[in-house]
Amino acid sequence: MKSVVCSGVIAVLTAAFIALIRSTSASCNYEIWIVDQADSNNGTALVGYGGYIYIFQSRDLKKAHEIIDLGGEVSRLCFQQTGSYPVRPHMLLFNLAHSHAVLAFVASGHVVIFRSADRQPLACFRTTPGFNGLRQAHAGFTMGDDKYIVVANQNGKKVERINVDWENEVFEHDMNATFTMYGNCTTPNNAPCEDPVLRPDNAPICTPPGNPPLAFITLRGGGMFVLDYTKTPMQVVAEYDKNHIGANGCGGVAAGNYITVTFVPAVHTPCRCRYINSGGGTPNNLYEFKVYKLPQTGYAAGNPPNTPVPKVVADDSTGERDAHYAGVTYNQKIKASYFWQPDRAQSVIDVFSFKSDKFVNRIDLKATNLSTDPTPDALAISPLMDYAFVSLRGLYPMSADPHVSTGSSPGLGILRVIHSGRSAQLKAIVPIENLVNGTNRADPHALGLYVTRANCPEAYGFRRQLRGRS
Ligand SMILES: *[C@@H]1O[C@H](CO)[C@@H](O)[C@H](O)[C@H]1NC(C)=O
Ligand SMILES: *[C@@H]1O[C@H](CO)[C@@H](O)[C@H](O)[C@H]1NC(C)=O
Ligand SMILES: *[C@@H]1O[C@H](CO)[C@@H](O)[C@H](O)[C@H]1NC(C)=O
Ligand SMILES: *[C@@H]1O[C@H](CO)[C@@H](O)[C@H](O)[C@H]1NC(C)=O
Ligand SMILES: *[C@@H]1O[C@H](CO)[C@@H](O)[C@H](O)[C@H]1NC(C)=O
Repeated sequence: MKSVVCSGVIAVLTAAFIALIRSTSASCNYEIWIVDQADSNNGTALVGYGGYIYIFQSRDLKKAHEIIDLGGEVSRLCFQQTGSYPVRPHMLLFNLAHSHAVLAFVASGHVVIFRSADRQPLACFRTTPGFNGLRQAHAGFTMGDDKYIVVANQNGKKVERINVDWENEVFEHDMNATFTMYGNCTTPNNAPCEDPVLRPDNAPICTPPGNPPLAFITLRGGGMFVLDYTKTPMQVVAEYDKNHIGANGCGGVAAGNYITVTFVPAVHTPCRCRYINSGGGTPNNLYEFKVYKLPQTGYAAGNPPNTPVPKVVADDSTGERDAHYAGVTYNQKIKASYFWQPDRAQSVIDVFSFKSDKFVNRIDLKATNLSTDPTPDALAISPLMDYAFVSLRGLYPMSADPHVSTGSSPGLGILRVIHSGRSAQLKAIVPIENLVNGTNRADPHALGLYVTRANCPEAYGFRRQLRGRS
């Protein structure tokens, strides 16, 4: 087994696991931001908005270094800028340089932008009412050219755009760019955007970026749109129906090769996401586990529907499976080695070879006996590919079907990555608490990894992104 670290040696891991993480080089420090999507509490009740961000530092993961109560300054900022408080912080993503974080509040439709270094909330936007007057913000993804945030307004059935200038911290919710996916919306092939046969429920779930100018919009009822997000309004350059892309896709990983072109970039659009307020999910599709791989090129409005054709990497709708989130490990600075697909229902991570797309291993989070029902949700892998972090869901889940999203050990799960990502072991759980009258209501969901130091030449997959940062 070969471990690569900036300096220092990673010894065989034992019970002193967490302390050992300090031995990775100081020049490769990072933070894990994990979000409790239960509301802020005032001692005796959940107050109806807010939540908490727990910030862990790689040099000491024993406990959170900082806790941001989203019911405080962030809620005041949102109230001031939108007239309402933000509810259910659900997905957190950093921009390419990791200089800023984007936090989407799914229930209220707010999107808050933070400066990473001092955690300052800089702006709060709210999506616009759409289908049936509803609005949400399931996730705000930063795009590959670093100029836009594309937001999935889930129940509003709209995709909205925030134009960004990270350097000067100028952010603009560009209403002219909105892509509305219901009503009289039609595709380049003149099909209805939403249609009982093609795409029965166009609530956008996730908007992961491909190579610029592409964003992949997964849909609650199945099917997908690929958008050119630089056009105003954003334009469809590929349309997929539900027979080609399944329902509720919500993971998405672009594993581009930032240095050479020898590696074929791909986007995976896996997963099953259900929300308590979505009303979806019939008894025979309570479980779903599908992973697709799509090329990064070949998209054009002049193509016929379902082009380029997605490759099905995994399709297991038979058992109790619930694919959610996704990760990619790198075995050399430029090569993706494995694709990780966490499964909340089974508390496992399925590992696929990135090259062959073959299933190669199943990491069982219960194997180390730290939790009877870990229920992994969001996932991040350290820049040196030596550790991985998962959010472990709580006893009172605030999103998705409780059937699969109820966990027994809310907290931050820390995994040791083995063999360039072919395997891993859950080595520690740092508990997260949100105590209301002695009951732990914490429900960790979003999780993001922020590389705090640019001087980390061995950081696989992060090199290009961090270059040019001050
Ligand atoms: C917590 O306890 C206080 C004081 O006994 C009570 O007023 C309140 O209703 C309780 N809250 C909940 C959520 O049960
Ligand atoms: C806590 O929040 C609940 C619900 O909003 C409210 O009824 C209660 O009065 C609050 N308690 C305190 C001490 O602020
Ligand atoms: C949106 O369009 C209006 C009308 O053309 C224009 O005045 C406005 O500047 C545009 N907004 C943005 C953000 O470009
Ligand atoms: C489509 O519907 C929207 C919203 O109902 C309306 O504003 C727009 O004018 C319609 N466009 C066309 C071309 O009919
Ligand atoms: C976990 O528990 C099982 C059942 O008691 C036991 O067989 C196994 O050795 C334990 N594994 C570890 C890593 O402790």
